[in-house]
Amino acid sequence: MSRLLLPELVDTERLALSLAQQRPPDPKDALVVFLQGDLGTGKTTLARTLLLALGAPAPIRSPTYTLVEHYPLPEGRGVHVDLYRLRGADELEQLGLRDELQAGVLLLVEWPERAAALLPRPDLHINLHIAGHGRVAELHAGSAVGGVWLRTAIADFGEQI
Ligand SMILES: Nc1ncnc2c1ncn2[C@@H]1O[C@H](COP(=O)(O)OP(=O)(O)OP(=O)(O)O)[C@@H](O)[C@H]1O
Ligand SMILES: [Mg+2]
Repeated sequence: MSRLLLPELVDTERLALSLAQQRPPDPKDALVVFLQGDLGTGKTTLARTLLLALGAPAPIRSPTYTLVEHYPLPEGRGVHVDLYRLRGADELEQLGLRDELQAGVLLLVEWPERAAALLPRPDLHINLHIAGHGRVAELHAGSAVGGVWLRTAIADFGEQI
């Protein structure tokens, strides 16, 4: 597990840029990222900056009410999910996430704990916490591809705590 100090909003954005910069080339399957942390810890901020850096067209809106937003990317597609308001397994089924698990898709999931075992295994877990006025990010990989992604992104980002 790696911990990064994100004292300011720009640091959350910088982490997203490092992840975009080091996005694994041509993985065999979708890349899945779980974004966890309390309300207002920066999950959407991170997802938005990452998607924009990968070339998604603005604006990136929080999927708070729609639960899912889709974006074309120059290489593949971005799927941004927020399960905070998920009402059950049926609603999850209707989102059709299973069909998104293909090469070229980046699937970013806020509040994955709302769907627990019904989601695919993530390549990367990012857990955000409030720390003073800033945030701390805890990151760990869930796959070999995620492991390389995490290592290279952290090397790109710089200091670790
Ligand atoms: N490192 C940081 N330091 C200080 N403020 C930050 C940092 N990162 C993000 N923020 C701010 O925290 C707020 C986080 O809002 P955001 O919508 O991204 O949170 P969220 O985790 O997606 O919340 P929700 O669970 O409601 O979806 C924003 O106002 C953003 O500017
Ligand atoms: Mg959010």
